[in-house]
Amino acid sequence: MPVQSPLSRPAVIGRLRAAGCVFAEGEADLLLSAGLGPDELTVAVQRRVDGFPLEHILGWAEFCGLRIRVEPGVFVPRRRTELLVREAAALLGVASVEALSPTPPVVVDLCCGSGAVGTGLAVLVPGLEVHASDVDPAAVRCARLNLLPLGGAVHEGDLYSALPARLRGDVDVLAVNAPYVPTASIGSMPHEARVHEPRVSLDGGPDGLDIQRRVIAEAAAWLRPGGHLLIETSRRQAPLTGAAMVRGGLSPRTAVSAELDATVVIGERF
Ligand SMILES: C[S@@+](CC[C@H](N)C(=O)[O-])C[C@H]1O[C@@H](n2cnc3c(N)ncnc32)[C@H](O)[C@@H]1O
Repeated sequence: MPVQSPLSRPAVIGRLRAAGCVFAEGEADLLLSAGLGPDELTVAVQRRVDGFPLEHILGWAEFCGLRIRVEPGVFVPRRRTELLVREAAALLGVASVEALSPTPPVVVDLCCGSGAVGTGLAVLVPGLEVHASDVDPAAVRCARLNLLPLGGAVHEGDLYSALPARLRGDVDVLAVNAPYVPTASIGSMPHEARVHEPRVSLDGGPDGLDIQRRVIAEAAAWLRPGGHLLIETSRRQAPLTGAAMVRGGLSPRTAVSAELDATVVIGERF
């Protein structure tokens, strides 16, 4: 079988640019350095031209300076979610210094997708006990690729029902990026998200808060006194997320990053 001559960098850039890729040079460099043979490279470029997310083609996404494995059909971690990790790491840094207990702080990455949040925390704050869970079996498989090598555990099921019962009342930090897109807004999301990320990873119901409200309602039962629930949300939805936390027995504050265009509501259990 004849082997195709490799696509040149200008040819890859030209094809990506013609397909509307905004960062054609950077994407071309990532595809060209992915260790693909000529035929594989041609297929990879065509998939990108056809609108597949770059991360699904490469098999990884950059997040918190790490390469997080991301499989097709799994939500691609966004850079804005690094704020959730930063805020959780700051709380855990304090917790691990102040802890008198010999047991490691317990972290749960609920609605974990690829497990990016739990993985980021496991790397940034060594010595944690990290659990992640998701309802989608594809996400669970992917999260295991990222978290098991770091000693984390990944569970499959609906929200808290997936977690080991022994964690109830003992969690230091619940770090959650649940779906929060209002159902009516999904149609106007970019093609890559709408077509290549599962609906269950995006759809937050009529006002976007259906899953968040369920997470918040049970959080106080899973957190230890003084523990924190952190939820990524949008600036517009943050007051609703905060109000749900008050109803759930948590005391909320909001962290914002203009640089990451990110909002996280943080609730403390007293
Ligand atoms: C927006 S994605 C975020 C994934 C990951 N936390 C991240 O930041 O990359 C939301 C995730 O929530 C999961 N999910 C949705 N409903 C769920 C439920 N009822 N129980 C557990 N996971 C759920 C989806 O499968 C998806 O992986």
